[in-house]
Parts: sequence; C-alpha cells; structure tokens
Amino acid sequence: MNDLFDRLRELLLDAGYTIDGVRERLGEVAATALSREETVPALRATRDGDPLGTLIRLWWLGVPVDAPAGLPVAELAAAGLVASDGGRVVSTVHLQPWETGGYVVSDRKVRPGDPALRPDHVVGAGGASANLAQLVTRRPVERALDLGTGCGVQVLHLDGRAREIVATDVNPRALELARISWALSGIRDVDAREGSLFEPVAGERFDLVVSNPPFVISPAGRFTYRESGFEADGFCRELVRQAPRFLAPGGTCQLLANWLHVRGEDWRDRVGGWLTGTGCDGWVVQRDVQDPAEYVELWLRDAAEQGTARYRELYDGWLGWLESMDVTGIGFGWITLHDSGTLDPVVRVEELGQRVELPVGGYVDEVLASIAAAHRLSGAELPGVRLALAEGVLEERIGPPGAEDPSRITLRQTRGLRRTARVGTVEAALAGVCDGDYPLGPLLAAIAELTGEDADDLLAKAPEAIRPLVAEGFFHISTG
Ligand SMILES: C[S@@+](CC[C@H](N)C(=O)[O-])C[C@H]1O[C@@H](n2cnc3c(N)ncnc32)[C@H](O)[C@@H]1O
Repeated sequence: MNDLFDRLRELLLDAGYTIDGVRERLGEVAATALSREETVPALRATRDGDPLGTLIRLWWLGVPVDAPAGLPVAELAAAGLVASDGGRVVSTVHLQPWETGGYVVSDRKVRPGDPALRPDHVVGAGGASANLAQLVTRRPVERALDLGTGCGVQVLHLDGRAREIVATDVNPRALELARISWALSGIRDVDAREGSLFEPVAGERFDLVVSNPPFVISPAGRFTYRESGFEADGFCRELVRQAPRFLAPGGTCQLLANWLHVRGEDWRDRVGGWLTGTGCDGWVVQRDVQDPAEYVELWLRDAAEQGTARYRELYDGWLGWLESMDVTGIGFGWITLHDSGTLDPVVRVEELGQRVELPVGGYVDEVLASIAAAHRLSGAELPGVRLALAEGVLEERIGPPGAEDPSRITLRQTRGLRRTARVGTVEAALAGVCDGDYPLGPLLAAIAELTGEDADDLLAKAPEAIRPLVAEGFFHISTG
C-alpha cells in the first residue's frame, strides 16, 4: 500500500498540487471565496482540464473529473479514496497539501446543502490544527503523543522533532485516514492506537503531549470530531487533570481548549482550577470569547446545518442548554503544562488579544521559564540578580508637548508575545541600563541618586515592580 501512496505523492508533486501551487492557481479571490464555502470562483479557476486544475477539482472541490493521466484509479478505489461516477472519477475523501510539505486526508468537507455529516466524520486540517501546530514547542523530544490525531496533521509537524510518535483517536476511521496522510507524507513508524483520552497509553510517559481535542461545548455529542460526549467543558478539564501522569520529567503538554464563562464565576478561576494540584507549571491563554449565540451559530455553520429543517430546533435547544447553566460566554484558548519538577508550581492565566509573533512554539519554553523564574524570585535575592532587557523592547513616552516629564511611559515588545507594560520612571531607567552586567541593588542605588528617591524605598518596592516585568518577558534573569 505504501508503494501506491509513494506513487500518488509523486503524481501530486509533479502536477504542482502543493500549497503554493494551489494558492497560485486559485488566486486571492477564489481562495477567499472558498474560505466562505463558496466554490464557484474556484471552479472557474480550474476549468482548463490541465492536471493541476483537475486535481484541485477532484481532491479539494470534490467534483467528478475525467481521470488525469497516470492516476491509478482502480488501486485508489480499492483503497477507498475514489469512486467512479458514470465514467468519471470522484473522490470519497478530501486530500489537501499541508504547510509542512506533506498531505492530509480527511472526510470530504461539507458545504451548505450537502447531506448531513456522519457521526464519525473525520475533519480536515484547518485553522485550529494550524493554531496548535504553531503553539507547540520546537524543542526536539524523545517521545511525543498526539491525542485525538484525527486526520493525523499534528504528526506531520512532530515528524523530525520527536524520535518516537504515538497517535491516538477514539474514532477508528480517523486512524485509517491518518495512516494514509502519513504514508502520503512519507512518514513511517507512527504508532497509532485506538481509544479514549489516555486509555491507549496507560502507564506510559511522554516528553511532549499535544492535543487539538473535541473541545466543542454542546448539549449532545453528535459528532466525534468536535464533541466528546463529556458534560460541558469536562473533556478539556479531564485532559488537563490527567496529562501530568503521562509526562516524563521535564515534559510538556500543549492543547487547545474551550471553556465556559458562567455568571458569578471568574473564568480564570475555573480554568486555573483545572491545573491546581497537577504539580505542573501552567500557562493558560484566552485568545477569544464568543457570546452563546455566536458560539452556537459557529458550530452549526461548521456542520453546514444552517438552512436545514432542524436548524432552528438545534439552535434553540443548544442556547437553552447554555442558558440553563448560566453561561455568559465561551472562551477559546491554549493550555500549556510543564512538568518542571518544582514543589512550588505556578499557573499563569491571562488574556492575549494581540497578534503575536509566530510560531509561538519557537519561544514558548522561554515564556514558561520567565513565568517560573519570576514566581520563584524571592525579594531577598532581588538585589543580587542581574537583569537583561529582552531583545526588541521599545520605550514609548507620551505627555503634553513641552512637559518635562511624560505622563505615561510604556515598554513595548516588538518580538514574541508583543506585550506592552505601563511603567514608572524607575523601571524605564532600569530598561535603559539593564544589560545583564550589574546586579539590581547597585543599579537601583544609582537610579535613586539620580532621581532623588530613597534607595531603600526603591529596593523595598522592587519585587512588586520587577517581578511582573520578568514574568512577562521584558527582562530576563542573566545567568552569564
Ligand atoms: C478537532 S479533531 C483534531 C484533529 C487533529 N488532531 C487536528 O489537529 O486537526 C479532535 C479529534 O479527537 C478525537 N476524539 C474525540 N473524542 C475523543 C476521545 N474521547 N479520546 C480521544 N480522541 C477523541 C476525534 O475523533 C477527532 O479526531
């Protein structure tokens, strides 16, 4: 079978069926229309009957085509990837090039007017898959686990960074299609296992666990690809609570999640509470919040259920269910756990609405290290600590024209998470002089002399002023 997929890959590459090839052929307008599930511009852009246009129609747009020369139709039909349609060939799956250079096979996309999704629908790689992939640490690891592998896309990203990869899914059909994705992408030796949550890896440990889980919060587990059947946001909570038992020392778990905002409860306490007692350092980031109606519409649209006879009934039932739990919104975000081996773990829960530098995985270990370093930095140690301003931090001063002192000073990161922090003159002065060479005590004494402040006073206030700036990565603790 691998030979068939090697030949198919060659054929796809020869025809230019790659991310760049498809993007160039479709152009901006047709690609944007496709993201709105409108296929007409893409059909127009692929009507010449050339190999690339035909492959896009077959595998991406899902319309019957005359088989392109060299396509092993009979073998692909036997493998369940195509069927014949009155002398023409039609795909039974969605086969898309992916940003890693490989290919991802899933069930065909549903668009408005298509028949209802099957309950074991295997969703294709999309925005959420790409979000998780960019979040995952680039640090090479020994053993990695992709929990809920679906079409297998996260494995394409882990390949070459993990020596051993285990991929699990509760849906056997997902594993079937994932194996094809890996074969088509030239990835061998993935250990694929069927089962729920951590059941298939009981007793094992991993250096990295990643999961784009079935996080959708709905009254019924209708579709395995997005709903677990657990109550409300219980699946993500369980994943977080159980993950530490499967992490090797120093290991990291990274997942996407949705969580409820419930009237009278701070969402930070809710999600932060999932991590309490895990023994791991944690970082929870809320990237977006939707109100209940937006949320229900999003997922009804996702399954192409708008305009169907059941739309209103499903919408009403889902909204009523959220209402019965006093839900005011649903948060979308990232959760990272790190088994740092500490007896004094720290969990940071925050909102990040701004555009951040991608991939976050290129510096996520640094983010975790900064949070932990700030937490463990005692007031007594502070005067002896040498701080270095992080690369790319700028200072902005705003004030009335001609005024001697600014009314507002902001430090702005141009790299990484691109945070901003409003600071006082002392922290701004420190940002100007901290290059990792001198301990904080003498620097604060020098600043006190210049500003006429009391040095002891500055030192006493330093933990409160400096710790957040270390935690947020404006200053690093210099060890050199
Ligand atoms: C949103 S898809 C993610 C697919 C892919 N990993 C990605 O990043 O695009 C979630 C996957 O979790 C699987 N899943 C659902 N319930 C599960 C469970 N209880 N245990 C493990 N996997 C589950 C689904 O079958 C589906 O393939």
